[in-house]
Amino acid sequence: MDFIQLKDGTKLPILGQGTWFMGEKKQKKEEEIKALQTGIEEKMTLIDTAEMYGDGLAELLVGESIKPFKREDLFLVSKVYPHNAGKEHIFDACNRTLQRMQTDYLDMYLLHWRGRVPFAETVDCMEELIKQGKIRRWGVSNLDTMDMEELFRVKNGENCMVNQVLYHLGSRGIEYNLLPFMQKEQIALMAYCPLAQGGTLRHNILNAKSVNEIAINRGITQMQVLLAFVLNQKSTIAIPKASSCIHTKENVDAASIKLTENEIKALNLEFQKPKEKTYLDIV
Ligand SMILES: NC(=O)c1ccc[n+]([C@@H]2O[C@H](COP(=O)([O-])OP(=O)(O)OC[C@H]3O[C@@H](n4cnc5c(N)ncnc54)[C@H](OP(=O)(O)O)[C@@H]3O)[C@@H](O)[C@H]2O)c1
Repeated sequence: MDFIQLKDGTKLPILGQGTWFMGEKKQKKEEEIKALQTGIEEKMTLIDTAEMYGDGLAELLVGESIKPFKREDLFLVSKVYPHNAGKEHIFDACNRTLQRMQTDYLDMYLLHWRGRVPFAETVDCMEELIKQGKIRRWGVSNLDTMDMEELFRVKNGENCMVNQVLYHLGSRGIEYNLLPFMQKEQIALMAYCPLAQGGTLRHNILNAKSVNEIAINRGITQMQVLLAFVLNQKSTIAIPKASSCIHTKENVDAASIKLTENEIKALNLEFQKPKEKTYLDIV
């Protein structure tokens, strides 16, 4: 597994595990725990969750899944709702998250999306949570370029470590000016929906000629081509969600695929780079 380095020097695996919609169905729980544990054993030690997912059920599932592992070997990420991201609610919200995840601290706490609480207040709270030992570092999610620029103008805004945004082969808008801004400021990209939610977010993406040719030539799946494409960006962590061990293992294998220049060219031809600014894609 390759690593990227955050601007505080922390090394992270390029592949983590998403958890949206996990922990919500009793009959699937055992399989989902096994899938997350298989991922951890395969070095996908970064787990992404949020208080929003199943109203805490995904955080509970993560808490159960990590029990057999050493805490210091994991990198746990959760997200605070925008309406909880101010001084009145964030400390309780963070404590509830820690309780559900059965841990004393988060490695990263993200503002899930921009709400009404001013950035300055959220940043102050994040810095206070670091002082209290509840979180190690913080970041944001779903912020476009202008939001990021505004964040950087508030005190300590530059301490933001990552921006978690939607990015997959069929949705490349961030390459226009968000990704260049983040790369200039050493903000890592945490790419969500790297598999276009199993291909459902972009019509026919799995049947695309370039994707199929690469998959056939290399003897890999179309989904692995999508993941390899995202991981081709520098300073990027992809967090695919897999609720079966088979999918987890396929995703791990995709992390070592290095696309050739010709393969990238073919993908670029069919899924063009953005030529102008588009609104940030979200789900
Ligand atoms: N910050 C935000 O606003 C935000 C928004 C969306 C998502 N996220 C985070 O990003 C994570 C990933 O996004 P996502 O879950 O929406 O979409 P995704 O990871 O792009 O796609 C997940 C889908 O792909 C399937 N899949 C996984 N591996 C596969 C494989 N090797 N072959 C075939 N199918 C495969 C999964 O099926 P199975 O479940 O059956 O394995 C699931 O249906 C989330 O879980 C969440 O942690 C954050």
